[in-house]
Amino acid sequence: MHKLLRRLWPAPNVSTLSSLSAYERWAAAYPPHAHNALMQAEEAAMLSLLPALSGQRIVDLASGTGRYGQLALEQGASQVVALDNSPAMLHHNRLVERALATSEALPLPPACVDGVICGLALGHLPSLIASLAEISRVLRPGGWALISDFHPFIFLNGQRRTFTAPDGRTYAVEHHVHLYADYHSAAGAAGLVIEAVLEPRLGLDTTVRFASAATAQGTPVVLVLRLRKPA
Ligand SMILES: C[S@@+](CC[C@H](N)C(=O)[O-])C[C@H]1O[C@@H](n2cnc3c(N)ncnc32)[C@H](O)[C@@H]1O
Repeated sequence: MHKLLRRLWPAPNVSTLSSLSAYERWAAAYPPHAHNALMQAEEAAMLSLLPALSGQRIVDLASGTGRYGQLALEQGASQVVALDNSPAMLHHNRLVERALATSEALPLPPACVDGVICGLALGHLPSLIASLAEISRVLRPGGWALISDFHPFIFLNGQRRTFTAPDGRTYAVEHHVHLYADYHSAAGAAGLVIEAVLEPRLGLDTTVRFASAATAQGTPVVLVLRLRKPA
């Protein structure tokens, strides 16, 4: 099958890799900027909810190659720490302060940061509970978190998170559906309040195109939430 068709319309027998294994293969070709239309829609929604960053201490959680950490520095953050559980992604991350860590156990003291940005990562985990509890623990009272995830509707419509590895094969990456209700209950359990939600939609807010006819125009492609730790 042609490479472009493979990317848009993965064969049903595409193997699914764990997040660690997938990003080990993907890291060298994963640029630190929005590199497809879904990410562009996601980034526009994230930036529209981003608080002023001047002088703020920020964690770029599940930073990958550093897209949001770099944006935070450009927007005046005083300190940005990038954390990710993939050695390969961190190797290609140019942020000065970076460390290997899982979102479920952050190597930071309580109440030490103003904001946490976590882009397109929590869907790789089966549960949100431990990660949201950790985000809450490291935020100062009044601090915020900005989180994005692949929208449950598109996954349930059959879309997969895929990439083409250096071996020329297309793989899917492990993904777990988290409904808005899951975010709501995990945030509540962590003592965080959801203060804003965006769901950019196919054909309306984004030029994302999927080959699957099952994904109707108007289907949301990402879920973006801003959470607040009460002061
Ligand atoms: C789709 S990439 C997004 C990278 C970056 N946040 C961005 O938006 O460009 C997902 C990232 O989440 C990381 N990740 C997955 N599970 C993780 C976990 N439990 N803890 C920390 N990072 C994780 C992966 O290694 C990968 O770098």
